Amino acid sequence: MKMKISPAEGKLGILIPGLGAVATTLIAGVEAVKKGISQPIGSLTQMGHIRLGKRTENRNPKIQDFVPLAHLGDIVFGGWDVYEDNVYEAAANAKVLEPALLNSVKAELESIKPMKAAFDKNYAKNLNGTHVKQGTRYELAQQVMEDIKNFKEQNGLDRVVLVWCGSTEIYYEASAIHQTLAAFEQALLDDDKLIAPSMIYAYAALKLGVPFANGAPNLTVDIPALIELSKETQSPIAGKDFKTGQTLMKTILAPGLAARSLGVHGWFSTNILGNRDGLVLDDPDNFKTKEVSKLGVLEDIFKPEENQELYGEIYHKIRINYYPPHGDNKESWDNIDIFGWLGYKMQIKINFLCRDSILAAPIALDLALFCDLAKRANMSGIQEWLSFYLKSPQTAEGLRPENDIFKQLIKLENTLRYMMGEDLITHLGLDYYEEAYAEA
Ligand SMILES: NC(=O)c1ccc[n+]([C@@H]2O[C@H](COP(=O)([O-])OP(=O)(O)OC[C@H]3O[C@@H](n4cnc5c(N)ncnc54)[C@H](O)[C@@H]3O)[C@@H](O)[C@H]2O)c1
Repeated sequence: MKMKISPAEGKLGILIPGLGAVATTLIAGVEAVKKGISQPIGSLTQMGHIRLGKRTENRNPKIQDFVPLAHLGDIVFGGWDVYEDNVYEAAANAKVLEPALLNSVKAELESIKPMKAAFDKNYAKNLNGTHVKQGTRYELAQQVMEDIKNFKEQNGLDRVVLVWCGSTEIYYEASAIHQTLAAFEQALLDDDKLIAPSMIYAYAALKLGVPFANGAPNLTVDIPALIELSKETQSPIAGKDFKTGQTLMKTILAPGLAARSLGVHGWFSTNILGNRDGLVLDDPDNFKTKEVSKLGVLEDIFKPEENQELYGEIYHKIRINYYPPHGDNKESWDNIDIFGWLGYKMQIKINFLCRDSILAAPIALDLALFCDLAKRANMSGIQEWLSFYLKSPQTAEGLRPENDIFKQLIKLENTLRYMMGEDLITHLGLDYYEEAYAEA
């Protein structure tokens, strides 16, 4: 049975806390695609196909022709930042895209000016922006809600989604005020410093029934209080941390090694990057948030407790080094010590010269479009089917995340099939042969 999904009529607002490298690369990219200058490469919603029915049916539509997604031409962007630069200036500073491309969409980018941020410097010490709101946490949440409502009204929007592309906040764990919505709302009134800025945006969005996706490894919506709110207002949430670069490679390669029952002794990963993200991560408290998000991936794929002989001794180390000359062109090295038949040792070396924001921008776009779809399909709370895009997927309490990118894709595709009332695909395939036998 097909789920009831409201059509993607009218305009969709994508509001972004943090108009830095990822956000500006996303916005400039969408504007360039709209003008026919570029292609939305790396975006499953724009480029990907999905198989329907049996292989013999040869039904393989584009995902965007299968599920009712918002069209790029119907998207309006906006956002907040602690710096006053408009999106053109911020994109130029981020130095991800070439000046020629930026100039071709200059007018569109210049017209997007950040709203004042809900910010607390204690959560990102290396930022010095002054374009910030004043007030208690409760007042800041009210102001963000007003921003969302005004943005919607001024742009004649039908729907809005929020995608956090702000900096990584310092590491901390959930405490009593994060456990229930009532406790969280009291903490807002008390201006409790344990409420991070990202939570203020998330709360404001969810209170208005607006979906929220988290592109950073911050706790943000991964707390019982905001999960409760997301269900109460029927708002989809997804997090955490865009899966780009090194972790993307890990979740492509590790499932292959595990599939072949090859052992792994050690996986050393190091990175150099020189953008503002790198600057923020240069602070040990902020790096810790990223490290925790990146570390879980291998454990979930290799499951050392179940595979002692192969992965029981795995040593996993991650380093991130701030190196300004590289800008957004992050370079990563992985040394993987593996072993095979009779314990014989081998090594794999990966040197990925990636462009971080080029990999992240299509993810941010897809998360926004799928969260909007989920909202129109009345799906609320954690959207685990979007873990395909995320380094540290948020799941129901006690549920181990699935980090294998291929299983994540199957989960995503089956969710789309389920929504549209198509048969789920198990890849069993015996039926092709059974029918042949039956006929013979
Ligand atoms: N670039 C990638 O490939 C990638 C991959 C995974 C995750 N991420 C995460 O995405 C986020 C954005 O990355 P980026 O490279 O664009 O970083 P960036 O530093 O270029 O942009 C982040 C922006 O957020 C702003 N900001 C910080 N706190 C804010 C607040 N409270 N309200 C509004 N704005 C705020 C900063 O001023 C900055 O302009 C980071 O958390 C990063 O860790 C990025």
